[in-house]
Amino acid sequence: MTAALKIDPKLDSYSFLSDEECDAKIVAAKSKLGKRLAILGHHYQRNEVFKHADFSGDSLKLSQMAAKTDAEFIVFCGVHFMAEVADIVTDGQRTVILPDLAAGCSMADMANLVKVKKCWEEISSVLDPDQHVTPVTYINSAADLKAFCGSHGGIVCTSSNAKAVLEWSFARRDKVLFFPDQHLGRNTAYMQMGIPLEQMVTWDFMKPRGGLTDEQIRNAKMILWKGFCSVHQMFHPNHIAKFRERVPNGLVISHPENDLEVCGKSDFVGSTEYILRTVRSSQPGTHWLVGTELNLVNRLADEMKAKGVTVEFMSPMVCMCSTMFRTDPQHLAWVLDSLVEGKTVNQIRVPREIAQPARAALDLMLEVVD
Ligand code: 13P
Ligand code: SF4
Repeated sequence: MTAALKIDPKLDSYSFLSDEECDAKIVAAKSKLGKRLAILGHHYQRNEVFKHADFSGDSLKLSQMAAKTDAEFIVFCGVHFMAEVADIVTDGQRTVILPDLAAGCSMADMANLVKVKKCWEEISSVLDPDQHVTPVTYINSAADLKAFCGSHGGIVCTSSNAKAVLEWSFARRDKVLFFPDQHLGRNTAYMQMGIPLEQMVTWDFMKPRGGLTDEQIRNAKMILWKGFCSVHQMFHPNHIAKFRERVPNGLVISHPENDLEVCGKSDFVGSTEYILRTVRSSQPGTHWLVGTELNLVNRLADEMKAKGVTVEFMSPMVCMCSTMFRTDPQHLAWVLDSLVEGKTVNQIRVPREIAQPARAALDLMLEVVD
């Protein structure tokens, strides 16, 4: 579904501009486009891009903002699946643009329709999945997987509503197939809903029948796709242990894409929006260790310093989401200047036959959240 990568020769000239030159172009283009334009920015965007966003948020908030905006052009400073969601929830009535088409999500790429269909078929040799299994896809997934869920009685979730979505799912069928992030599924089911780990199996999509026996499939309540986020896998329980030794009164907050050990040792677990809200509401003198992407943490640390709150990044390594990082001021200036000239570049368009069932699964999620 990624649009064909046709490189506009004009982009080359932007790649040699400094960030400051791009800033001036972005500001000028924004003022020319006025209310016709909405720039949405995910919390993981680098500062040089984030500062130009009209709206920021986690995946849920950004999808709700996309659905609400009257702007003709939505420029999505995030990753590919987010721009797809914006196109789906606006019924293709807006022009959704991803400044760099290579800004994907490596976790989303760990599941694809061929593999998920194969999994569904393999499960059906043991039990009828349309009777027993609700397919739940994390929003970090391609549109055709959301469509698969919409066509099979399933639903989408984000990191901020996974518990409500799982409760909805278990009220309908006795099992859940959760993809692509095993950790969000396991953490939510175990930590928030008390489902025992023995009732969860991991579906290894590289092995026949997920590497599971008939009995394991039959007995499982949660079937967890073996996907993960390459950024969050950099955080380890020993980072938390060392912090606790050094700062005994410190608090630890993590994103649910971290593994169960990291989340289990954290004081708080939640989406990027939740992390920001929780740290921002803390008292002066509080010292935080934060287990999520570096751009968010650095920006939060700067903001909270003035309020007497210390914020530290969980890993000693510099780990950023390299695909979020692809969106730079050069690409942003290029797509905006193109719009000013009446030319649309890097539009994300989900074919309607996929968008419709995907929308059904997204709408269910939005109803469950309300
Ligand atoms: P949020 O929805 O919490 O912002 O998470 C998106 C994401 O990709 C985290 O890695
Ligand atoms: Fe995907 Fe991980 Fe980047 Fe989030 S941080 S967009 S899950 S690769």
